[in-house]
Order: sequence, then structure tokens, then C-alpha cells
Amino acid sequence: MKAWGFKEFGNTPFYCFDVPEPKLEEGKVIVKTISAGVNPTDWNTKIGIYPYDIFPFMSGWELCGEVIAEKGTQHNVGDIVYGLINFPEMAGCYAEKVSVNGVDVVPIPNNIPAKKAGALPLVGLSVIQAFDKISAARGKSILITGASGGVGHMAVQHAKNYGLHVIAVASSKNEDFVRGLGAGDFIAYDKEEIKLSGDVDILFDIYKEAFPFEAVKNGGQILTLQERKQQEFKNINYVYHVVNRNADDLLRLTKLIEVRKIIPHISSTFPFSEVEQAIRQVSHAHAKGKIIVDFNLQP
Ligand SMILES: NC(=O)c1ccc[n+]([C@@H]2O[C@H](COP(=O)([O-])OP(=O)(O)OC[C@H]3O[C@@H](n4cnc5c(N)ncnc54)[C@H](OP(=O)(O)O)[C@@H]3O)[C@@H](O)[C@H]2O)c1
Repeated sequence: MKAWGFKEFGNTPFYCFDVPEPKLEEGKVIVKTISAGVNPTDWNTKIGIYPYDIFPFMSGWELCGEVIAEKGTQHNVGDIVYGLINFPEMAGCYAEKVSVNGVDVVPIPNNIPAKKAGALPLVGLSVIQAFDKISAARGKSILITGASGGVGHMAVQHAKNYGLHVIAVASSKNEDFVRGLGAGDFIAYDKEEIKLSGDVDILFDIYKEAFPFEAVKNGGQILTLQERKQQEFKNINYVYHVVNRNADDLLRLTKLIEVRKIIPHISSTFPFSEVEQAIRQVSHAHAKGKIIVDFNLQP
């Protein structure tokens, strides 16, 4: 069978390898992949930001697929499931078939087609788990950077679920999109500076290259997805979150999507033959919502 990965770090090609079929083990399911989400971490791994030393490294951390075999799990053959797979160890989700822990996948939301569901676990879990770590009382303000991207477009919606006033940062071309998700105020980073100084209760720090921490008021909170250099923040609750696999959280995400409290947006779909192009596109950091690989899409 075929699977995408790379042989070395750096801005060099990805390859579609011939690899052995996955083996069925106790507690696992074999999934025939239908869709796989594309994330900046796919590119960051390729250029060597993380300390992996496995080559070839098989890319991709999230998927949706059909269970074609299972051993000692709660799943049945024929179930359509999705999940964040094996993160942060190598998972290899850009593969025709993947062996996954039964506990890492759950049935997809009933209002999302399988060809889109593979794009939701990583960003969805990141957002709902991150919000669990802060005090997000109704009426407080939250500044969200990267608000139009994979994580950000769900973060804006989830902030509204908490009754927060959202000030969103993205490029001017995405203003209507982000306001449509629920942002009350919008800052176009390509046209203006973030002039807030000590004004906001919470900063959700998503986009790596900008860190407007001065915007946070005394006694406020910084919730970050970025591993930043240790800094002293006087009287600010600083929380760094890394997404983790958790079936209960995934079921919570499923429910939020089913009741339309989070509506995912997918802007670009690539066929399996173009996984490399999909990862190179996400590397530019201008995805509107998510990018996905649809294994049944013809090139
Ligand atoms: N810690 C964790 O567990 C975790 C989990 C998920 C993601 N992450 C990290 O979170 C980051 C975002 O991930 P993502 O999937 O949301 O990425 P993405 O889909 O590529 O989104 C990038 C966002 O950044 C904005 N942006 C691009 N250039 C900008 C600039 N110069 N100034 C301000 N904003 C700019 C984009 O807006 P425009 O398109 O409008 O330009 C877009 O909203 C990545 O670094 C990723 O690695 C961490």
C-alpha cells in the first residue's frame, strides 16, 4: 500500500512510499483512510523543528476512515471513525490504511461527511482542551491571533460558546469570514497595528510570529499554543497548552459540531496523489479554516 513521508529534514521532497499493510494487534483497529487533515506540524516536522530521528518519517496525525478490522475494541467493522492518532509520536495518517488505538477514535459527527471529518480532531481538540485550562467567564474579552486559520476559526466560535467578546486578528481579506464566525471586533494585521494596551482579559496566542502580550490587562490570562521563551508576566496567568489524545474530549467536540456550536470550514481539498502540495500550502500559514486530503478525490 501507499503512504506519504520523507527521508530527511529540510525543504526537500516528500515521497509516496510503498509500505507493508498494517498489522492488527490487540486493542487496535485497522482503518481504511477516507480523509486526513493537513496541519502546520506536518511541515514543521519536515523542516526538523521537532527531535524525531526516524527515517523515513511517515507524515500526518489525524484522519477519518472506515474500520476494516478490529481486535478487542468498542468498534465494529464498517464504522466510520475519526481521531488524533498517536500524537506526538509518529502516526503516518497519509496512508491508505492505518493501524490505530481503538481508544483514539470515535464515530464522526452525524452532520459532517467522512471526506471532511479527518480535518477536525487536531484543531478541535486543541481549542476545547485549551479553553478548559482558563477561566472564561461570560462577558470577558478575548484577543485571538490567527483567527481565520485551522485553530483560530474554531477558537472564535468556541469563545462565543463561552459568551466572550472576541477581538480577532487575521488579514483584511478574511474579515467577513471571521466576523461571520462571531468576532465582535476585528484587527487586520496587514493594515493596522494591534493598539490594545492592557485592555483585554484573555489573549489566545495562536499565530507564532506575533505575540501581542501587552494587550492583556493586569490580572488577565495568556493561553498559548506556542512554546515561547520563558518570560516574566506579572500578575498574568500564563498557560501553555499542547493538544492531547482523549476520547472524552473528542466526543465533546463531536457534540459541539452536531449541535452547530462549532461549524468547521474547509477551504482546500487535495487528492491523495498531492499530499506534498497540501503540506506545502499549509506551510504558508494562510489557510482559511482547514486544508484536507480526500483519498477518494480524483486528481
Ligand atoms: N500546541 C498545540 O497543541 C498546537 C495545536 C495546533 C496548532 N498549533 C500551532 O498553532 C499555529 C496555528 O495553527 P493553524 O493550524 O491554525 O495554522 P493555519 O491554519 O496556517 O492558520 C494561520 C493563521 O495565522 C494568520 N497569519 C498568517 N500570517 C500572519 C501574520 N503575518 N500576522 C498575523 N497573523 C498571521 C493567518 O491569517 P490570514 O490567513 O488571514 O493571513 C491564519 O489565521 C501553528 O503554529 C501550529 O503549529 C499548536
